[in-house]
Amino acid sequence: MNKVLLYCRQGFEKECAAEITDKATQREVFGFARVKEDSGYVLFECYQHEDADKLVRELPFSELIFARQMVVVGELLRDLPPEDRVSPVVGMLTGVVEKGGELRVEVPDTNASKELLKFCRKFTVPLRASLRSSNILLNYESAKRPVVHVFFIAPGCCYVGYSYPDNNSTFFMGIPRLKFPSDAPSRSTLKLEEAFHVFIPADEWDERLASGMYAVDLGACPGGWTYQLVQRSMMVDAIDNGPMAPSLMDTGQVTHHREDGFKYRPTRTNIYWLVCDMVEKPVRVANLMTEWLVNGWCREAIFNLKLPMKKRYEEVSQNLAMMQEKLKANGINAQINARQLYHDREEVTVHVRRIWSATPGRRDERY
Ligand SMILES: C[S@@+](CC[C@H](N)C(=O)[O-])C[C@H]1O[C@@H](n2cnc3c(N)ncnc32)[C@H](O)[C@@H]1O
Repeated sequence: MNKVLLYCRQGFEKECAAEITDKATQREVFGFARVKEDSGYVLFECYQHEDADKLVRELPFSELIFARQMVVVGELLRDLPPEDRVSPVVGMLTGVVEKGGELRVEVPDTNASKELLKFCRKFTVPLRASLRSSNILLNYESAKRPVVHVFFIAPGCCYVGYSYPDNNSTFFMGIPRLKFPSDAPSRSTLKLEEAFHVFIPADEWDERLASGMYAVDLGACPGGWTYQLVQRSMMVDAIDNGPMAPSLMDTGQVTHHREDGFKYRPTRTNIYWLVCDMVEKPVRVANLMTEWLVNGWCREAIFNLKLPMKKRYEEVSQNLAMMQEKLKANGINAQINARQLYHDREEVTVHVRRIWSATPGRRDERY
């Protein structure tokens, strides 16, 4: 199997292709990306047969911005016979995967694939049974063993392969299923909730999303993001000229400042979270976030970079590199990750965590 299949948001195939080509080349893995516009996926074909496995094993999935999932696959299986679609899939995996821990029969995230997904659900049952009897899957689910993926791009037509459980998305189709809380003031609340799921390991939530923490929300109105922080019993300074949802103000946990988010400066020294959803040029937002992090005004930040229409991968990479450089120049060791979340549209979400600072006055400050 010499191909890497990447799932992405429909319309962002070029960005996903530019990113995998760039990041594979940095690791001296050479190949070319096949892009079909609006397909919701990209295929990166490696020149060296074993490189697909190497890439999927070694390129940290958390470093990918535009990919929702990363899978090693073989040639496209076409025209699966309706009387036995199972055998060709089992044949393709024989000798490739042993004792897999989970089966996911998936489709690209497009409207056109919705019907196909119904078929996938039905097909999963006999396929799983056959994969188990062939020892390609264990008889029980295990989060420690490879995940078997079957990715239908059309009826009777699929890619088959595997991903590694410590370097993939844990979610079916790479999409966390979140329920919109009916009392939240805006749908964008799901963006911040998804960001928490993607960027903060579940076993660290108690420590890093703790009750009583102080948070600042720049561009907060009507309050979808503030809602997430309030739900976690944090105290929030919400900065925006617009109106905040009264239900949030009634909690007593929110202070609303009608100010410009670019000019607002914190009044306390124990702010843990900075979140920002202001619609502005990416470079302006990136610079503002850097200023907060360099000055130690917050410990972790989550913010959106709204993307221009062209060269979106380049735009994001340049901004992230600029942030990394400035933080480093100021003696700050930070972890930066970015992802186009399922709930993001023409934007990506960035997470930055200050690990420690060697800045004079804050020497060896460890969090
Ligand atoms: C996409 S909305 C934020 C939605 C919010 N995150 C939510 O979940 O409800 C962007 C907000 O940024 C605010 N905004 C834009 N520029 C701003 C600025 N310079 N200072 C403060 N707020 C700003 C707008 O007033 C708007 O309410």
